[in-house]
Amino acid sequence: MSRPALPDDTELADRIRALDLESKVRLLTGATMWSLPAEPRLGLSAVTMSDGPQGVRGTGGDPAATGLLAPAPSALAAAWDTELAERLGTLFATEARRKGVDVVLAPVVNLQRTPVAGRHFEYFSEDPLLTGTLAAALVRGLQSRDVGACLKHFVANDSETDRTLYRSQLDERTLREVYLAPFEQVLAEAEPWSVMAAYSGVDDGTASAPMTENARLLREVLKGELGFAGPVVSDWAATRSTVASAVGGLDLVMPGPDPQWGVPLVEAVRAGEVDERLIDDKVLRLLRLARNTGRIAEPGQSPPPPTAPAGPAEEEFRLLREVAARGMVLLRNQSDLVPLAPEAVRSVALIGPNAVTPYLQGGGSAYVPAVRTVSFEEGLRAALPEDVHLSVHRGGDSRLRPPYLSAALLTDPETGTAGVRADHLTADGGRVGGEIRPCGNWSGYGDFGPETHRVVLHTVLTLTEPGTHRLEIGCVGRYQVSIDDEEVLSGDDDRGVELILDSTHSNPPLRGIDLEVGPQPRRITLAIDLTVVEPGGYDRFVTAQLRHAPPGPTPYEEIAEAAAAAQAADVAVVVVGTNEEVESEGWDRTALDLPAHQNELVRKVLAANPRTIVVVNAGAPVLLPWADEAPALLWAWLPGQEAGHALADVLLGRIEPSGRLPWTLPARAEDVPVPDARPRDGIVHYGEGIHVGHRAWDKGGLVPAFPFGHGLGWTRWSYESLTVSGPYGPLAVPQSSVSANLPDPAGGDGLKLTVDLTNTGPRAGREVVQAYLEPPQDGPDRPVRLLAGFTVIRATAGDRATADLHVPARAFQVWDTDTGRWRTPPGRYRLRVGRSSRDLRLMAELVVDDGGLHAAA
Ligand code: BGC
Repeated sequence: MSRPALPDDTELADRIRALDLESKVRLLTGATMWSLPAEPRLGLSAVTMSDGPQGVRGTGGDPAATGLLAPAPSALAAAWDTELAERLGTLFATEARRKGVDVVLAPVVNLQRTPVAGRHFEYFSEDPLLTGTLAAALVRGLQSRDVGACLKHFVANDSETDRTLYRSQLDERTLREVYLAPFEQVLAEAEPWSVMAAYSGVDDGTASAPMTENARLLREVLKGELGFAGPVVSDWAATRSTVASAVGGLDLVMPGPDPQWGVPLVEAVRAGEVDERLIDDKVLRLLRLARNTGRIAEPGQSPPPPTAPAGPAEEEFRLLREVAARGMVLLRNQSDLVPLAPEAVRSVALIGPNAVTPYLQGGGSAYVPAVRTVSFEEGLRAALPEDVHLSVHRGGDSRLRPPYLSAALLTDPETGTAGVRADHLTADGGRVGGEIRPCGNWSGYGDFGPETHRVVLHTVLTLTEPGTHRLEIGCVGRYQVSIDDEEVLSGDDDRGVELILDSTHSNPPLRGIDLEVGPQPRRITLAIDLTVVEPGGYDRFVTAQLRHAPPGPTPYEEIAEAAAAAQAADVAVVVVGTNEEVESEGWDRTALDLPAHQNELVRKVLAANPRTIVVVNAGAPVLLPWADEAPALLWAWLPGQEAGHALADVLLGRIEPSGRLPWTLPARAEDVPVPDARPRDGIVHYGEGIHVGHRAWDKGGLVPAFPFGHGLGWTRWSYESLTVSGPYGPLAVPQSSVSANLPDPAGGDGLKLTVDLTNTGPRAGREVVQAYLEPPQDGPDRPVRLLAGFTVIRATAGDRATADLHVPARAFQVWDTDTGRWRTPPGRYRLRVGRSSRDLRLMAELVVDDGGLHAAA
């Protein structure tokens, strides 16, 4: 059956005109946390949104609902592969449909301006071109299956601390050339159907409003200059005004219900403060999104619900595994230790806190409850021949917070059932419900009715192991904690939605108590009285975390045990990294060190076994002070659910780790160009200007541990020749300096680079061929070198391959603040091609003459 013709914009505008003002305004605030209102008179069904970008989280209706957990975006970016990103986009689309989702709140195209940024793992790269190119591919994949993308967070929202309050201060060139650039590129190349306005604002000297009210950037730039035709959606609970946001260019307030628009907006229109045509435009943008995602039918009718194949399917697990493995970056590989020759390995010692508890995904709104997870241990055990001995050793904990109390130690005093009992009480103390949960993590969103005002937890903790037990308790809002009927802790934090937005609700400050246990078991009665938090916009919730560190070996004892195991094994694989205490939405890091005693662990294992492979399980840079001593060093990212299979594929030679760093790895904290993400007096000052990431390292002449773009593979490549052509034919001869009239880079299609390479190594492999442009330094301030194009090629051992790279005209251009236009400064440009920003093998020089190169007026 053919699909009925969809209404065009004129038809949608006619339908909108038939609605009264109240009905139109009603459509502009979410109906629920994730869904928009339906309007049968428009033929509009509810559009449903859900978070990405590590998968599709779903709408949370069913707490048991799980989903596919992809590698975090920095891992995907490390593959530098648009085709792979597009395939992942289609997987997200299928997953979205399975979960009844029409719009995925992804991709994130903010930049890794500083390595300490809290959401670094959620961003692709420190480079605007790499970010924009991969994000566009992901959007194409997603939208090719009629699921909308929501490009976020517009714009210059690259820090987390006080994220609803700060303003980013950056000059216009930096905004245009760096932070707006990936948004502009994705809009041009993939036309995303929605854009999210950030919590933060941009202070450009003329305005210092939150982004939801920034008329210049939302209306003039995004919708005007860049031609965005869809709705601008507020970040969750980001709307703080009625008229300013409605006039500023916001189209949709999320989540709902929310009091900012609705009746006050209707009144503002009636009072002449907001033009009703603006309201019509917002509804039209919303309807375009609904039309694109199949949520529009004839008036009075409903479109058929979108369908999705059952799943998850094996091929989806395979794709997640492929992304995770291909994105891994082999930073060092002395004597070709990786891949391991399985026949030469009889025993493997798998060591490290992240070997025991891998960190698979970053925390915050991107969190996906995974349908399955494969730990590093499980992956290696499944892949190694049966007779290879694999032993696992933690080597000390890397978490500063103890784990949750085990349900086995907890009993409800009333029923004797294992776990914690919760009584739901009304404001005057009447019991209206309750439940028993077998765990020490008590976090609940709306699991209680509106009449519940307090949730009181009761449990008896029985400790048998003699020694000192540490109990740590973290609650939010207003609470009292009693141990054996004596109040030991209390809190009176009255904040509402901020408790969610700064992640306090999932990461409450912990207060600790030491409990001594002698030869006899000790029973402790615990009561925690929690007042339900009313965040406004989000569901009401309570949080109480009960954490427990039993007596046990010291980290030094565990490290010594692990080093002994490494010495006894043929090969040691040490997995170190971050965890949920370190990498998350809601806060920024303040240091780049590996948490706890992990450096000491690595050093001891390196000393114990010369055949040691160090694996780093982190989404963002951490300092590796022993890197030069590690025979093999592999960056494994936050690899998602198939982590263990992917690591085994790489270590045992099934998939080449063909990742390249999408950011610069510092060797020393003092070298980091932008070491702090936090605002000062409410301002994040982008003082480094256009010199972001690798550009800053080049400008400062600094030597990182590993440069942007670096990554080894299983083979070697010789870069043989470079040809540069514009729309009118070849421009430059490789390795020589040529003066050529560059055809109108401002308006043209840019340049085509053809690079011939030979795989001179022992195996088939992939190579990420990277092109950098070095602009003239005698005109306006320019980066020493900027990424101008890249592509992935493959060749078998001994074979030649040709890489075709596209260098966009924009790479040559600067934003001219005086004229408000792009221009190409004249001068001598060098195009350099190689395998990282610091390993450049071929060069061509171009001269841009003044005369013929400016864009035609
Ligand atoms: C995050 C967004 C996310 C939204 C909905 C916000 O706090 O900044 O990235 O899409 O929550 O969960």
